[in-house]
Amino acid sequence: MTCHQVIKADSSHIQKLAAAAKEKRPILWVRVYRLPAFVYFSHRVHTEAGAACETCHGPVRERDVITKEVANDMRSCMACHTASKARNDCGTCHEER
Ligand code: HEC
Ligand code: HEC
Ligand code: HEC
Repeated sequence: MTCHQVIKADSSHIQKLAAAAKEKRPILWVRVYRLPAFVYFSHRVHTEAGAACETCHGPVRERDVITKEVANDMRSCMACHTASKARNDCGTCHEER
């Protein structure tokens, strides 16, 4: 809640988060983007490599409600890895960690 104590604190959606934080309840969260359990993925390596949220999630800042706009399938992962010269052997995304 560090940011949202101040930012958009009057939003009814943020107030739901604030209530959950105050009562130490998990946030009710409908997953839109989810990879199968056998795929390894970390946001950190991607944001540190300069990938924009929009590349993988579409223009989220213009949306009130998130729907799956971009396919994050193996083909698109590997295409970007090829283009950006990142590791692309099978174990990159499928190894046990
Ligand atoms: C390289 C592609 C990529 C980039 C860049 C990326 N994401 Fe993601 N994001 C994913 C994938 C893939 C998942 C699903 C991960 C999983 O299931 O383990 C995900 C999941 C999420 C989720 C959970 C979605 C849900 O439906 O519950 C949020 C929130 C999220 N990303 C926010 C962001 C934000 C904010 C940024 C920019 C700072 C960002 N992502 C950048 C690929 C990306
Ligand atoms: C926008 C381009 C882009 C997309 C899309 C993308 N990646 Fe990446 N990914 C990268 C780059 C660039 C790196 C290398 C970062 C580095 O080495 O600092 C990377 C690194 C990784 C790594 C770490 C590899 C290592 O060296 O250990 C994993 C795992 C990974 N990506 C999984 C995925 C998965 C799974 C998807 C699809 C859901 C995906 N990536 C989609 C650009 C992308
Ligand atoms: C850059 C990340 C990445 C790399 C590299 C990668 N995969 Fe995947 N793989 C994924 C993602 C994401 C999925 C789940 C989404 C999908 O099915 O497209 C997946 C799914 C799969 C599936 C399940 C397909 C299905 O229909 O259920 C198999 C099998 C697979 N990968 C094998 C491989 C093999 C073999 C290699 C090496 C030649 C490889 N993968 C390399 C990201 C990757």
